[in-house]
Amino acid sequence: MQTITTVAELRHTLEKCRRADQLVGFVPTMGYLHDGHLALIAASQAKCDVTVVSIFVNPTQFGRNEDLSSYPRDFLRDQELCRGQGVAILFAPGAHEVYPSYFETFVEPGDLAKPLCGAFRPGHFRGVATVVCKLFNMVQPDVAFFGQKDFQQCAVVRRMAIDLNLPIEIVTVPTVREQDGLAMSSRNRYLSEEERHQALAISRGLAAALNEFCSGERRVEKLIAVAKKHLETVDTLQYLELVDGDTLKTADSPLRRPAALCAAAYVGSTRLIDNVILTLPTR
Ligand code: PAF
Repeated sequence: MQTITTVAELRHTLEKCRRADQLVGFVPTMGYLHDGHLALIAASQAKCDVTVVSIFVNPTQFGRNEDLSSYPRDFLRDQELCRGQGVAILFAPGAHEVYPSYFETFVEPGDLAKPLCGAFRPGHFRGVATVVCKLFNMVQPDVAFFGQKDFQQCAVVRRMAIDLNLPIEIVTVPTVREQDGLAMSSRNRYLSEEERHQALAISRGLAAALNEFCSGERRVEKLIAVAKKHLETVDTLQYLELVDGDTLKTADSPLRRPAALCAAAYVGSTRLIDNVILTLPTR
């Protein structure tokens, strides 16, 4: 595995892969890798000839009072994990490589970035879209892999790729969960033992609603109520919304189209997100 920190070296190395007609898969991350990231890497390895993983904690997607400075980092461990997964290139640019002095050009997503997390984290998806677009331009992958846990991020990135004519296939990989159901997240490490237990309310609530849905319930209010009962125990429920799977607007009741039940909650001072996809059976 090559660890590369500059765009020039990355381009030079990938040039050889492209000349050999190799399919390049890309897994963008902010590091502190967990099994969710490893599932993205495995999906890339299964589909592509070469996998590039990036590690960059992107400052432009963090709000002023968010956890940029304390975001968990362990580069050597991440490097070992990537090596163990057979990753070909680990791209770990410094802040100046990504955002040179006088940087002032951003990608501004539209309505998909407004509800859910977008309503509580102003500018977050502008930062995500900008850095993902820049990383796409640096790596120029054929396929890029994102986790379903960040459902809205997947929608924003997919839209951006279409709108900006980026010739990249966007693959969404199902959320990887701990044995008890908690969605894997780098932020889980902030949780105390008690909070870790409390956090289970999120996945349990969503799973209960999914269960009702699978048993035939289609009323939006009912599905939300089922999830909400579990979520009463979290410190602050930021949102619990059933949205249309494509537009992310509030889903019409009864459900007739693919939808997603999405939640964000604070457990202690840790903000966690999760979702389940509600897909209607095909007749
Ligand atoms: O999902 C993440 O880890 C980040 O939002 C991403 C896609 C790497 C952009 O910084």
